[in-house]
Amino acid sequence: MRVLAIESSCDETSAAVVVDGRVALSNVVASQVDLHATYGGVVPEVASRQHLLKVIPVIQEALADAGCTLDDIEAVAGTRGPGLAGSLLVGYNAAKAIAYGRGLPFLGANHLEGHIYANWLVEGPAPRFPALCLIVSGGHTDLVFMRGHGQYERLGGTRDDAAGEAFDKVGRLLGLPFPGGPAVAREADAATGADGLELPRAWLHGTCDFSFSGLKTAVLHTVQRNKYSVPAIAFAFQEAVVDVLATKVSRLVRELGAAEVLVAGGVAANRRLREELRRRSPVPVRIPPPKLCTDNAAMIGAAAGHRLALGERSPLDEDVFSTNDWSRVGER
Ligand code: KG4
Ligand code: ZN
Repeated sequence: MRVLAIESSCDETSAAVVVDGRVALSNVVASQVDLHATYGGVVPEVASRQHLLKVIPVIQEALADAGCTLDDIEAVAGTRGPGLAGSLLVGYNAAKAIAYGRGLPFLGANHLEGHIYANWLVEGPAPRFPALCLIVSGGHTDLVFMRGHGQYERLGGTRDDAAGEAFDKVGRLLGLPFPGGPAVAREADAATGADGLELPRAWLHGTCDFSFSGLKTAVLHTVQRNKYSVPAIAFAFQEAVVDVLATKVSRLVRELGAAEVLVAGGVAANRRLREELRRRSPVPVRIPPPKLCTDNAAMIGAAAGHRLALGERSPLDEDVFSTNDWSRVGER
């Protein structure tokens, strides 16, 4: 099945054509990052208005890149949530309108499920179940046990900042450009080490939860002491985040007997995280290439493709949702 997918949950307008939830014929992403950089963060109204400007041109480009027209599309998918409501509405309604106009099946996909399904877009054999999923993005840090398609058990997640949010806030504390994640990673990768700086790790023993706000405060105090260089602080911070994520994942893989680890979300683009997860895990760790880790429509087409193949359809009078609620992932 050839699916046209649209993603507009935050600050990227994206459209893709995906076949059978496995092959992306195109994946166009119009980033608003320069627009929001002036404000040091995503401004919701600016984001939704920009989606309005971009959504149709991005869809046209995705169809052209895939070498097809709407006549070749067999179903339409849109990101239903979680995300910024005003942003979601633009892509979601565009997807519904195309489905309605062409009389095609429609599916509203969960953004987090989309991040996980980016792993199905990588060439080679499909991921094996049961899988332990680590979702690390700007808005989410979740550990989810996946027993089969659409079967999720949320094991835990962050109690305060998401991993990407912590990277972004630390980037700001260090005076680095927006978005902070890639900027902090660049500084850390260029550093020779932490110069002896040790930053705290919140282990939250006995839980699958995370907390990054104490680490962020420790970075603030370190900056105020004015003793360590920006690269050294970035290095120590990145090591602290990666250590906690990789330690919890490798322990859980053993406890749960997972066949594979699936990593998802923008922070999965982090080189040190990729390296450390692979080094410590006793089972294969799948991480999509960076372009499929950050927000994109191909991942939505992959998640939707699997649901559509099972016969699922969404009604055209369905609302978007903004909160992170795993119990709603498969809700119809
Ligand atoms: O998944 P995503 O594109 O958007 C959300 O759904 O949140 O993730 C964006 C997040 C941002 O916080 C960004 O700073 C972070 O991913 N990020 C990184 C890296 N690349 C993107 N964080 C650390 N290292 C990176 N290389
Ligand atoms: Zn995302």
